[in-house]
Amino acid sequence: MNYSIETNAVETLKADLLVVGIYSNQEFSVGAKAVDDATTGFLTSIVKRGDISGKLNDTLLLNIIPNSDIQRILFVGLGEQKPLTIKNYRKVLTVTINAVKKLRLNSVTVGLLDCDVDGANFALKTRQIVEVFEDNIYQFTECKSKPVDEITLKNIIITAPDFALATVGLEQGLAISGGVGLAKHLADLPANICTPYYLAQHAQTIANTFDKIETTILDVADMEKLGMGSLLAVARGSREPAKLITLEYRGGDKNSKPIVLIGKGLTFDSGGISLKAGAGMDEMKYDMCGGAAVLGTLQAAAQLNLPLNIVGLIPASENMPDGQANKPGDILTSMSGKTIEVLNTDAEGRLILCDTLTYAKRFQPEVVIDLATLTGAVLVALGRVPSGLLGNDDALCNDLIAASEIASDSVWRLPLWEEYQEQLKSNFADLANIGGKDAGTITAACFLANFAEDFRWAHLDIAGTAWRTGSAKGATGRPVPLLTQYLLNRANA
Ligand code: BES
Ligand code: MN
Ligand code: ZN
Repeated sequence: MNYSIETNAVETLKADLLVVGIYSNQEFSVGAKAVDDATTGFLTSIVKRGDISGKLNDTLLLNIIPNSDIQRILFVGLGEQKPLTIKNYRKVLTVTINAVKKLRLNSVTVGLLDCDVDGANFALKTRQIVEVFEDNIYQFTECKSKPVDEITLKNIIITAPDFALATVGLEQGLAISGGVGLAKHLADLPANICTPYYLAQHAQTIANTFDKIETTILDVADMEKLGMGSLLAVARGSREPAKLITLEYRGGDKNSKPIVLIGKGLTFDSGGISLKAGAGMDEMKYDMCGGAAVLGTLQAAAQLNLPLNIVGLIPASENMPDGQANKPGDILTSMSGKTIEVLNTDAEGRLILCDTLTYAKRFQPEVVIDLATLTGAVLVALGRVPSGLLGNDDALCNDLIAASEIASDSVWRLPLWEEYQEQLKSNFADLANIGGKDAGTITAACFLANFAEDFRWAHLDIAGTAWRTGSAKGATGRPVPLLTQYLLNRANA
């Protein structure tokens, strides 16, 4: 989609369609008022007929505007005349793009920057328009043999009183929605296409696009040399060789320590010998959403040319049942030297992440943030609204919470108290890989904490937020917005 910023007064524009707001007390937004004046009260005459409620998210299309170069007007209800919350602003934008999508036009002019939104300047409002529009324009068509209902829209023109701020918002919006779109696409791909090899190839493609990104791919033999006994045990049951993907973005000072992002890249999780139930197992192609979000975030950071050093690490593997697969009771030696008793082969995410955490040490990280579709338990605790956040550093967790609020990509912190470590005791090894039925999200994070003792670390459990289930099944691209905002905040600090 093509976006541009228009600073001329709305009533003077030529447009296929202009979107403007109206409040439930029938007051026009600034742009609507200007068009009304320019058309000698045409919009007022429509309102007087009682056709427009102005109720939040109601829409009305006027497809003839006499004496005007504006061909059509879409009214969107803004509700009570007071500043909108960011959430409601995003809802208004969702309703808008979904109505516009159906009209089969070539271009739309959006006049919605003039409504007040709590805590949002022109930059943040512009960014919301791009993020919400792109999210709703996204279609996964790669695997359809016949053309699907194509979206005709090509140009989106945003009318803005302040060109500079709107441009900042547009750039951020394009970078974030580009990262989100990449994460969604990789995640929606089926596991027979999106293999560990495919993810590694894609990392290479990103590195080829941006000068400041370099990629290194470790193969099974490399990982054997490093002693990654835990990661490789998960991979042993699969015909698809595991990869450990490293992306290094160098935008900061040579000597500044990197922010390390680790994403679980489990391209299909059958559970292994502790096989999952059949119903819904297709959704375990989404078990690589953490890895996809790392790729999306690095792409966004590079596109924004952020003055930071960032390392992305993606352990990529399948988890399959097989004659050589990991078995319950097996004891693994991780790269750290700690031994792990595998009591359930379906708790494999932590097994690939623990060796990656150990590996992360060699980058001398400033902070490490891992993102993983790690536990079904996070759905029980928090549902599909926030991602679970746990970590060993309050300042880092607070930074992530602050970023999540700006990014509309929520998180909720859970405790990581040492009492929970009791649940991971093993009779035969240093640690068990499961902690029983209570507090599954916390004990999974506690397991990881044993491998993150030497740095500031936070963990995002995105099993409830990385994709939607049911009739709207599809990836969300979360937490790319949160992470990109965290990086933007770090760049501005
Ligand atoms: N990838 C799953 C987590 C998951 C499950 C995400 C359901 C979304 C929906 C993870 O590898 C897993 O299987 N976790 C187990 C852990 C258990 C065996 C301790 C789980 O949550 O059931
Ligand atoms: Mn599993
Ligand atoms: Zn998994």
